Amino acid sequence: MTTLIQNGTVVTATGRHEADVLIDSITIAAVLQPGSDAAASAAGGADRVIDATGKYVVPGGIDCHTHMELPFGGTFASDTFEIGTRAAAWGGTTTIIDFAVQKTGENVRESLDAWFAKAEGECAIDYAFHMILGGVDDAALKEMDSLVGEGITSFKLFMAYPGVFYSDDAQIFRAMQVAANNGAMICMHAENGIAIDVLGEQAAARGQTDPIFHGITRHPRFEGEATNRAIQLALVAGAPVYIVHLSASEALERVAEARNQGRNVFAETCPQYLYLNLEDHLGAPGFAGAGYVCSPPLRTKHEHHHSDLWQGLRTNDLAIVSTDHCPFCMKEQKELGLDDFRAIPNGIGGVEHRMDLIYQGVVMGEITLERWVETCSTTPARMFGLYPQKGVIAPGADADIVLYDPKGTTDISVDTHHMSMDYSAYEGIRIDGKVDTVLSKGKVLIENDAYHGTKGDGAYLRRGLSSYLI
Ligand code: URP
Ligand code: ZN
Ligand code: ZN
Repeated sequence: MTTLIQNGTVVTATGRHEADVLIDSITIAAVLQPGSDAAASAAGGADRVIDATGKYVVPGGIDCHTHMELPFGGTFASDTFEIGTRAAAWGGTTTIIDFAVQKTGENVRESLDAWFAKAEGECAIDYAFHMILGGVDDAALKEMDSLVGEGITSFKLFMAYPGVFYSDDAQIFRAMQVAANNGAMICMHAENGIAIDVLGEQAAARGQTDPIFHGITRHPRFEGEATNRAIQLALVAGAPVYIVHLSASEALERVAEARNQGRNVFAETCPQYLYLNLEDHLGAPGFAGAGYVCSPPLRTKHEHHHSDLWQGLRTNDLAIVSTDHCPFCMKEQKELGLDDFRAIPNGIGGVEHRMDLIYQGVVMGEITLERWVETCSTTPARMFGLYPQKGVIAPGADADIVLYDPKGTTDISVDTHHMSMDYSAYEGIRIDGKVDTVLSKGKVLIENDAYHGTKGDGAYLRRGLSSYLI
């Protein structure tokens, strides 16, 4: 089966040009100059021609930070792999890297096997895994090498959530030493969880139990301090470090310092930290703020966090935008913390909206079209060992392609989204653009506002080592 995508503007991380894209089965076969003999002959012979006039033709999005069915605070993230990956496809994301979870004291191998079982045969799009190591112990350190051999080439460690996922500096440093040796990437949740818990207990004792106190007790300096500590530990160990879900200027400054010294220090941010804030969202009347409880928390609009993060995306101190997709419903899930913000499950769902929300950054003049592609697709592929199979429109790459309509509009709402959530954190935001058509490995998943895929279309991806390191 051959498909020709005709008359579109192909956008990559390095430029844009008018081109026709020929797909042979699951792979991009050629990128052709429109009107050339080769393009005419491809059009004549193709089984199917898709007209992309007026549309951007971009590599499918790669969301390298999702939590389908994450166990958290006595409940589970509400999207299954089936529902969450279908929602991702609706939003132009054609690959996810989800976090397999090992909690403190659990067996790594059994935890990973359970994650494979959850995802197998369920996914709409291709998927890969990072491994969360909770409370790193000797058994986990021993498993790290074999996991790298199986394509799980990055490990998330936590400086937050004592007793659940938390590792102390010695545990972190040992894991970094293993990573320095086997080439893996250390992904770090950088918040000082010990200090946060002190402020959390004190706030609760004063009766300050509303959702906004989740944000107030997770001080941005606690993120800056932990980010710096993670970087210093990684530099001594000789391991690359990738700061996940960076939210605060204080943390970004530490990343920028290390990067200015040419270190293998990287960071991502997420749409919630670019668009939402502590006062209006986490501080919404009644219990509505619970829908915005995530860690690190949304930051105040009165400091520079939002503008600094956009700036970081321009300078590459922030290399990637992921979602940290971790959806919970208000009813019966967020409600677990009605009397105490510390019991609200942490997380916001957004896997469906990342490509749109960051495209809006292009419309707002914050980043270029090319940078949109780079931060949402190409760099995630390079950072996490999927390039050049993913993240690029070039011969030999998987035909994961999105046609994006800059003349369309998208109104984000709980009434229209495809995630398993009873609210939308981005309710009412209008995007001046629209995901028009989505192909995953040559198969059309989204077209004419309808889903044409089948459960199990997506396959597991064994990842290589990062090709982003200096
Ligand atoms: O609030 C968040 N971020 N929930 C998901 C777990 C994590 O720390 O990434
Ligand atoms: Zn985290
Ligand atoms: Zn996360």
